[in-house]
Amino acid sequence: MINLKDYGINMWDEKTILSFRKTLLDWYDREKRDLPWRRSKDPYHIWVSEIMLQQTQVKTVIPYYKRFLDWFPSIKDLAQAPEEKLLKAWEGLGYYSRVRNMQQAAQQIMADFDEKFPKTFKEISSLKGIGPYTAGAIASIAFNLPEPAVDGNVMRVMARLFEVNYDIGVPANRKIFQAIMEQLIDPERPGDFNQALMDLGTDIESAKNPRPEDSPIKFFSAAYLNGTMDKYPIKEPKKKPRPRFLQAFVIKNSEGAYLFQKNTKEGLLSGFWSFPLLETRLVEQQLNLFADIEKSSMTLSQKISFEENYQIQPIWSEKSFPLVKHVFSHQKWQIELLEGEIQDIDLHQQKELLWLKPKDFDTYPFATPQKKMWEAYQTANNE
Ligand code: ADE
Repeated sequence: MINLKDYGINMWDEKTILSFRKTLLDWYDREKRDLPWRRSKDPYHIWVSEIMLQQTQVKTVIPYYKRFLDWFPSIKDLAQAPEEKLLKAWEGLGYYSRVRNMQQAAQQIMADFDEKFPKTFKEISSLKGIGPYTAGAIASIAFNLPEPAVDGNVMRVMARLFEVNYDIGVPANRKIFQAIMEQLIDPERPGDFNQALMDLGTDIESAKNPRPEDSPIKFFSAAYLNGTMDKYPIKEPKKKPRPRFLQAFVIKNSEGAYLFQKNTKEGLLSGFWSFPLLETRLVEQQLNLFADIEKSSMTLSQKISFEENYQIQPIWSEKSFPLVKHVFSHQKWQIELLEGEIQDIDLHQQKELLWLKPKDFDTYPFATPQKKMWEAYQTANNE
């Protein structure tokens, strides 16, 4: 346990803490959002919601949450789900390792916990993909254990309450916010206490448009009272995502099917199907940026690489399509679509390649860049 004084933080006295809990929970009882996972105490349901809500907004999550529990009503169903269905359930949410880890955790529960969700913070934390935030959220919401759930929202609220002079983006500083929360959390209603802070942190105390005047806890907030709201939380700006330039090959055969490739590499978008993609080399990116004249020769070299890599020789069209852009947290993709047709449909039994007709797209998982490519392709062809 750390000593908050060493970090320049003066914890309130007991009376103030009690008054803070009551003020926050009274506000939550009046204002809480009616969300589907708040109608359940089942740890499996809470777990699904908490994993989805990392990196994704509440309104986006709601339909995914309902469908996920419809497709996988029990931990056992999740543990046994085929990969394509698992990815399909998460299609569009991004950060797909989240759902792969969930499946591994479900398998752990089946094997090591007698098919029942574990009930202690320590055991919950032992599950794949469950860090201290998620373990705290599940322990407090489903099992009423007094465990804080410290995420970026909670750190932001705490940073303003106590004028914390430590960067909330630095992982080593999390322990400071954890220590504050351990003292503040309401032992009777820990789940509601955590969720009240989540509601506050995503709306009234949001990062981009805070409305401090509307905050039910403004009179507890050092930053509000001292007029330093714009200084807190302390957070260094994130690094810009790395730009990548790619070509996508939209190859159609004489039966109206398109060539798709499964990404078998570990990491970003592993397991998803998309048009075959090739990355442009750095020197060629620069040509692309600075000299339009060179662009067609670059495109030609990419077509040749495609033909060599895939042993397929399409008849290329000269049509050009708008660039497709997609930003991940660490990468920014710009994709040029190149269109070709081919008679021959023999794929030489390469198992990661497949001809797919649009009517069959529903049965394979596609990530957002592929969806954007398909949309751009169709829009241009219908113009
Ligand atoms: N964000 C993360 N967890 C949440 C929850 N349980 N309710 C609302 N927003 C959240």
